Formats: sequence, C-alpha cells, structure tokens
Amino acid sequence: MRIVVADTAASAARLAADLVEDFITAEPRPALGLATGETMEAVFAELVRRHRARGLSFAGVRAYLLDEYLDLDRQDPCAYRNVVHRLLARHVDLGAGAIHGPDPHAIDLDAECNRYERELRAAPIGLQLLGIGSNGHIAFNEPGSPLDSTTRVVALSEQTRAENARFFPAGQAVPTRAITQGIATIRAANQLVMVACGKHKADSVARALEGPVTSEAPASAIQLHPNVTVVLRASAAVGLSESLRAGAP
Ligand code: F6R
Repeated sequence: MRIVVADTAASAARLAADLVEDFITAEPRPALGLATGETMEAVFAELVRRHRARGLSFAGVRAYLLDEYLDLDRQDPCAYRNVVHRLLARHVDLGAGAIHGPDPHAIDLDAECNRYERELRAAPIGLQLLGIGSNGHIAFNEPGSPLDSTTRVVALSEQTRAENARFFPAGQAVPTRAITQGIATIRAANQLVMVACGKHKADSVARALEGPVTSEAPASAIQLHPNVTVVLRASAAVGLSESLRAGAP
C-alpha cells in the first residue's frame, strides 16, 4: 500500500487526479470507477481543469458508478448519476452513454444488482476511486458489511444519512436505501485509489489502514488489495502510527 500525505485538500485532489490521468492516458478504453461525495468534488474539479487547460481527454473512458441512492426521482440532482454528469461528464468529452451504473428504478432490484455486478466483472474496472465515511464505510458498505459482499441493496446508517444531509436541499429527506458495489466487487478492481481529507476522517483512516481487517471497518478491506494508493490530507493522517506516516513521502 502506498500512502501519500498532502498539505491541502487541493494538493490531495491533484495527486489523485495525477493517478487518474496516468490511467486514462495509458489505455485506449479505460474502465474508471467513480466515487462521489465532497472529497471527489475536488478531484472532479481538477480533472475538468486539466481537460480545459491542456485537453486531457476522456473520449475513450467508460465510467462506472460505485453506488446510487434508491427512492429518488430520476431527475433528482442528488442522484449520483446526475452528480457525476453535473460535476464531471458535461464539462469534459465523456458522453452520457459512457456513464454506467445500476438502475435504481428497476422493478426487480435484486436482478438489477446482479446485472450490474456482471457488468463490472466483465469490464473490469482498471482504477477505482474511493472515499471513506467517518464510520469507515467504502461506497455504501456500512459497518457490518461482509468482506465478500457483492452489488446489492443496502440500508444506510443514520450516521451516513445525517452526514449526507448536507448535499440535499433543506426539507428533503436523505434516502434510507441505496445500491452499492460490494466489498468483493471493489476488491476486484485492478487498482484502488482512496482519498480522505479532514480530521473527522482520521479515526476511520487509521482503522482502515492499520486496524484489523474486519467487516466492522469496511474500508480495512483495502489492506487485502495488492495495488492501493491512499491519498490523505495531513489532517486525515493524524491517527496513523509514526511508522506508517514515516513511510509516506
Ligand atoms: C459515495 C461513496 C462514499 C463517499 C464517502 C465519503 O459514492 O462512495 O463512500 O466516498 O461517504 O464522502 P465525503 O467525501 O463526502 O466525505
């Protein structure tokens, strides 16, 4: 596992964008896994900046959503497909047809989860961007999620719903359910890039990187992956042991 500590959120976003750029320029039809959330907003903004400044192209990219809320209208701006379109796709040469995800409006959600899981395994994902929840979730795999889980419908924890309320207009309830890639699905990606910023992530980052690998800390599953880069703003790294921090350049 490579750990990189950055002074600012902007430099963490640049480091993550460097890895995405290397990946999408090295392959003709790269399969890129996208997370969403505040941390990713800065990464998307940096990728858009590079597209505008020097023509970083997404023309061949196939983008795959990590998770998606259930029970939102198709047009709801908070639906992750719409978030990715608004913050990334519409500003770069990434067509709407290049964004893949589970259909949260499918009649048979279990069948849809199985379909998306098969699509991901067939892709397969070359680089998967990940954030981490302050309760240690990755994607919407909340504490207690089996390490061998695949794409499925999950209930969101009250902590996650409370934290994500900031993305929703006042008065709109945060969904209680979502479709998420499972932990085994995420581990099947060729390369994982996790980004975390802020002191409120320090505890979950320390558990993910140095604690036991356990379903109670879903992000700890990244320890099982052979090709992981963790990009941390210094504030998110304060819970790490000296030896791990010393290993970071
Ligand atoms: C969303 C996702 C989540 C977020 C996590 C951190 O697609 O995968 O696991 O990455 O909740 O979100 P922020 O960056 O908003 O703190």
